[in-house]
Amino acid sequence: MEKIKVEHVTKIFGKHINAAMKLVEQKKSKTEILKETGATIGVYDANFTVNEGEIFVIMGLSGSGKSTLIRLLNRLIDPTNGNIYIDGQNISKLNKKELRKIRRDKMSMVFQNFGLFPHRTILQNTEYGLEIKGVPKEERRLKAEKALDNAGLLPYKDQYPSQLSGGMQQRVGLARALANDPDILLMDEAFSALDPLIRKEMQDELLDLQQRMKKTIVFITHDLNEALRIGDRIALMKDGEIIQIGTGEEILTNPANDYVRSFTEDVDRSKVLTVENAMIRPVSINVEADGPKVALQLMREEKVSVILAVDKQRNFKGYITANDALEASKRGERHLHGILRNDMQTVPPDTLIQDVLGPMSDSPTPIAVVENGKLLGVLIRGVVIETLSSSNGNGGVDDE
Ligand SMILES: Nc1ncnc2c1ncn2[C@@H]1O[C@H](COP(=O)(O)OP(=O)(O)OP(=O)(O)O)[C@@H](O)[C@H]1O
Ligand SMILES: [Mg+2]
Repeated sequence: MEKIKVEHVTKIFGKHINAAMKLVEQKKSKTEILKETGATIGVYDANFTVNEGEIFVIMGLSGSGKSTLIRLLNRLIDPTNGNIYIDGQNISKLNKKELRKIRRDKMSMVFQNFGLFPHRTILQNTEYGLEIKGVPKEERRLKAEKALDNAGLLPYKDQYPSQLSGGMQQRVGLARALANDPDILLMDEAFSALDPLIRKEMQDELLDLQQRMKKTIVFITHDLNEALRIGDRIALMKDGEIIQIGTGEEILTNPANDYVRSFTEDVDRSKVLTVENAMIRPVSINVEADGPKVALQLMREEKVSVILAVDKQRNFKGYITANDALEASKRGERHLHGILRNDMQTVPPDTLIQDVLGPMSDSPTPIAVVENGKLLGVLIRGVVIETLSSSNGNGGVDDE
């Protein structure tokens, strides 16, 4: 179900907005427009939807418009053009009171610098959202304590933010955002200030939390590895425009342009790509119908020493080696059943490449990719390695 819908949303900062608008439409660059009009393109013509329960990541370099976009979602910033719908309700049309209600009941924001009040205790900080919502004192204390308890921070409730580490402060920020049980979490570089290990822990916590709570999360990051780790889908921004939206796998295998490709260059592809991206068409033989001579012939033609065996319905049955086929042929055998081997490893197509790298290097045979019993492809070490290093992810394998 559609939770957030963003339709032709543009935000231009500065005066001469109409003049700037004309220039953007003429495809002038952001810098040119700034020079000519003094106006800055924050976001231009953004279109996307975020589904309920999804983690939607917005990525892009500094100044590309990520924060502007996320602030448009809760109308901390008003759009110059376009419409934003939350649960089907056009928030651009809400009056102040309705807007406040939506912000308090449906959305919470977590900021990069934790956004905690230094002179409030951890508990008072966590209560803050509930307080402005007008929740009675006793009830908000209980809710805030529960949120802190979930974050493992209850023992610190009477301390002040400066007495906590960065990671702990960010957990308080998250607990505060969750205390009023919003449907939507807006997270603007929430983990960027944390050091790598803590950051990974927080990512795990967020994923864990998402499993249990099924929020809709819009998450901004600079870091593609973080985006790939936690995002269901990723939107890439450049100079205010969204230039690609897709799953991590789609973005890695099919970058929209060189800009996106350059973003994907230093990613650990084995953690994102599945074996489906690395498998090749198997050389196979029908074990019910064919004999050793056909097997040998095929292996010669295809220059392989192992051939995969299937039945008429392409169900995976095992494999035949060239040596076995040769021996069987010398013995005058007509069938393959006697030399069919069945010790080949199989994996389903959605297996991550990183999970087959180990098994593959230990295995004397290739690995078969099998789904519902049917043979889909085969994994050859050289091709898999090539897939991991290639910038288009196809690794020279034919597109079907
Ligand atoms: N209040 C503002 N007034 C004028 N220009 C602004 C304002 N806020 C943002 N901008 C401009 O809009 C553009 C997008 O800024 P934004 O803060 O959204 O970028 P960002 O992608 O979040 O960057 P960062 O990664 O550094 O946080 C920038 O060119 C910025 O200068
Ligand atoms: Mg920002």
